[in-house]
Amino acid sequence: MNKKWMVLLLGLVSVCCLWVGVAWAGGWAVLTLESWPEHVVAGEPFTVRYALRQHGNHLISGVEGKVTVVHAETGERLQFAVTDTGNTGYYEAALHLPVAGEWRWHIDSFGRFEMPPLMVQTGTAVPTVAAPVTLLAKPTSFSWVLGLMGVVVMGTAVVLWRRQQTRFAPVAALLGITLCLAGFVVTPVVGTGASEAATPPTAELGEILFVAKGCASCHQHDGVAYNGIRTYMGPDLTDHQVGPEFLRLWLRDPAQVRPQTLMPNLELSDGEIEALIVFLRGNGETGVASKTN
Ligand code: HEC
Repeated sequence: MNKKWMVLLLGLVSVCCLWVGVAWAGGWAVLTLESWPEHVVAGEPFTVRYALRQHGNHLISGVEGKVTVVHAETGERLQFAVTDTGNTGYYEAALHLPVAGEWRWHIDSFGRFEMPPLMVQTGTAVPTVAAPVTLLAKPTSFSWVLGLMGVVVMGTAVVLWRRQQTRFAPVAALLGITLCLAGFVVTPVVGTGASEAATPPTAELGEILFVAKGCASCHQHDGVAYNGIRTYMGPDLTDHQVGPEFLRLWLRDPAQVRPQTLMPNLELSDGEIEALIVFLRGNGETGVASKTN
């Protein structure tokens, strides 16, 4: 290679380095949605809140932003303004999606953050989680009614017995016992169902949160579809096998586990932590779904 080409090559390399350097110095940020909008109903307004951390560690205020949503089928496109909440690093936008279906969306705020698609339900549809809850509320009180009826019928049996009505007394007693037992049987079955329905720690939700909380900005995970900014600052989590107890502590507050760590505390809720654990542990002992679905 002659000298002229050498100089040109060196020049090109330094321009590239400078460009990357400037872009990096200006910074990159991690966007963390406060909560994933799970039950969006067409025509009903809802608010999206997020935190913005420059270089993943310090909250930055005064950043402009907008939310863009595009209907997957019709291509209808809407934009919503983002406002600074005044609380350093926290922003919000009021959204309103007119029709049901899948909406693709992204937030432009110190970069472009693609979000997992939003599934919007029709106005009349009952939200998936609310349905079992209302359904379950009834049998729970129903079991009380059964139990009470059983007690009353048994009381009647005793009265009948004392009045020497020996023909009806055993029938009433049997009926009373059956009712009481029925009440007992209904309660535990419904009880466990209700607690599961209230907090579904699913792998799918975990996968969504991996992007929506900003984990994907710092961690590679082969099971996650993500094409936003990636820093590779943290380890690849595709097959990171650590116990749920450790993950619980780590995700609650990394610095509590390792004071020098560069991973920020993303203020995750207990439910979010559990969903992320199920997702990260894949087909592990929780036995829920695979990494790729
Ligand atoms: C700003 C970058 C950044 C973000 C955002 C981030 N992490 Fe990390 N993460 C790191 C770094 C750096 C480490 C290595 C930390 C260390 O060893 O001190 C790490 C380590 C981890 C580990 C391994 C801990 C261990 O020692 O086994 C897990 C698991 C993890 N992160 C999960 C997550 C999840 C889940 C999210 C999203 C809720 C997330 N991280 C968001 C930077 C980040």
